[in-house]
Amino acid sequence: MSFKKIKIYDSTNLSKGLLNIFLFEYTLNMDDAEIVISNKQENINKTYILLKNEQLNLIENNHNLFISDFSIENFQVILLKLLSNIFNEKPFELLYLLEDKRKEVAEFIKNLIVLFEVEDKKSSMSHTQRVAFYSKKFAEYLKWPEDKIELVYDLAMLHDVGRIGIEQLMLFSKTRVYDLEEWDLEHTVAGSIFLANRKELWYAMDVVRSHHEYWDGTGYPDHLKGEKIPYMARFIGIIDWFDWATHTATSEHFGILTPEESIEYVEFNLGKKFDPILGEKFINFIKEYLSKEQFI
Ligand SMILES: [Fe+2]
Ligand SMILES: [Fe+2]
Repeated sequence: MSFKKIKIYDSTNLSKGLLNIFLFEYTLNMDDAEIVISNKQENINKTYILLKNEQLNLIENNHNLFISDFSIENFQVILLKLLSNIFNEKPFELLYLLEDKRKEVAEFIKNLIVLFEVEDKKSSMSHTQRVAFYSKKFAEYLKWPEDKIELVYDLAMLHDVGRIGIEQLMLFSKTRVYDLEEWDLEHTVAGSIFLANRKELWYAMDVVRSHHEYWDGTGYPDHLKGEKIPYMARFIGIIDWFDWATHTATSEHFGILTPEESIEYVEFNLGKKFDPILGEKFINFIKEYLSKEQFI
């Protein structure tokens, strides 16, 4: 399962900050863009927005479908018309694709996740916060661009959305081991079903569903193998595993490992449990991190 970003060409830059950066991706190639916004007349057979002589035009096959004076508000209206034209949906629903709405929903859900998690006394951080923290550090180490770092942090904050309330269950239930094992298998599916109902969070679907898949196909829930596992799920999956091993692994597995023991385990499992290239980069990153900073 993979979610393709919608390609947008915009020579006016007007749409920047309006569209959900996780659903849309800017391109300089007009031919493969699904959405075109231009400041000059284009000879293309797709509907596009033209900004010319202080006027906004929605153009289809050289016909003007809509004209208005230029203002940001009018631009938003015309952009929604174009989106609804392309996606064949009601403009109202497409409002959900806008960045503000996505942020609002994502922030609320992230707060809820942290609220339900058990905080580590030493660092005052929960599992999700630590995974997001190290995902960001790893992305910075790889010198990713700012928006991609923001994206991986956001995805890491959402990765265990299907576990809301489970740690409470583990703490207070007599059958906690059983519940833990059952739920660990289910939370990826539960999370993706939850997300299916929230259009604003669809971009996190891959990570929520596939962060427990293993490179050799022995993970869950879909037993995906190798590069079939979405990249961000592989990325966050390694950090997720590392955090689990160093903080919560129970004696049915191997008990809590030190960071150094966990590194050895990752090393041993390159090409088995973990993406060999990404896993090796992670090892280099975490070794460098541990040489300078306190492990949390
Ligand atoms: Fe998980
Ligand atoms: Fe997790």
